[in-house]
Amino acid sequence: MKKALSILATGALLATAVGCSSGSGNADGNEKPQIGVAIYKFDDTFMSGVRNAITKAADGKAEVDIVDSQNAQPTQNEKVDLFITKKMNALAINPVDRTAAGVIINKAKTANIPVVFLNREPLADDMKKWDKVYYVGAKAEESGTLSGEIIAEYFKTHPEADKNGDGVLQYVMLKGEPGHQDAELRTKASIEAVQNAGIKVEKLAEDTAMWDRVKGQEKMAAFLAAHNDKIEAVFANNDDMALGAIEALKAKGYFKDNKFLPVVGVDATAPAIQALKEGTLLGTVLNDAKNQGIATVNLATVLAKGEKPTKENVGYDITDEKYIWIPYKKITKDNLNDATQ
Ligand code: GAL
Repeated sequence: MKKALSILATGALLATAVGCSSGSGNADGNEKPQIGVAIYKFDDTFMSGVRNAITKAADGKAEVDIVDSQNAQPTQNEKVDLFITKKMNALAINPVDRTAAGVIINKAKTANIPVVFLNREPLADDMKKWDKVYYVGAKAEESGTLSGEIIAEYFKTHPEADKNGDGVLQYVMLKGEPGHQDAELRTKASIEAVQNAGIKVEKLAEDTAMWDRVKGQEKMAAFLAAHNDKIEAVFANNDDMALGAIEALKAKGYFKDNKFLPVVGVDATAPAIQALKEGTLLGTVLNDAKNQGIATVNLATVLAKGEKPTKENVGYDITDEKYIWIPYKKITKDNLNDATQ
């Protein structure tokens, strides 16, 4: 009898666990799908915007548990293990190291929990490992091209920007994290856009500032110490580094008494928009945190319910049955309102 009771009890426990994993009829009567979200690090300006957008988009639709991977892949892997133990219905992962996505995919596949990657694009081979793996992001080249066009336009319409009058644009480049698709492709595409506009270029210096404002300031100070007046433009792979560069330039007397240097970034964060208004930052490119957040939540919710994602149930085009691409937009002081998130 005792044994029979214990079998019954185990059965009841199992039933509860299975109920949890389907996302319908949890013990607390909560019907909303549970989505485990791991951000590469909370201390990143742009990703904080995406994180807020995810929280907002989930309101009334899904329960999101958002965790900080603290810029460490082993920490993120542990968070994923925990999500799996908690029987989340879908995962949304912003990988620390995009080449480590394969490990996460294997874990998710074994547990049969669909996974949406965001912002850091896994390698194509990893994306093919399972049909319940998706990516939400933006085309990195596009942002590079748009920021390059802003500089090219300025150089063409401001003859004084060619300080030494040699017909060549001498520039410095502040790169994001090496290996990140946005760092590599923005760097390349921005310069190609300038060349495609018929302008010759000369790179004076390039260094990584890891998406970081303070590092951007330090690297720019070093560039100025080495090249000083030779620099005719500053390209930064994101706004935080561009704003750091602007601080270093201010310390050298720029942005007053008609001393100007064109600086471009990417993201269109609130402090960058402020800098555009003040006339220090020349331009940026809207990296649409709001739509990236909404698309991530919509897609993860559909997957969590066991449905097949389509344009109709997610609200965004799905390319190659795996990718949602959110477009970028050029932002200068002439269209500031387009950057409102
Ligand atoms: C980029 C963004 C950067 C940084 C990075 C993190 O898309 O432009 O500012 O947030 O993602 O992966």
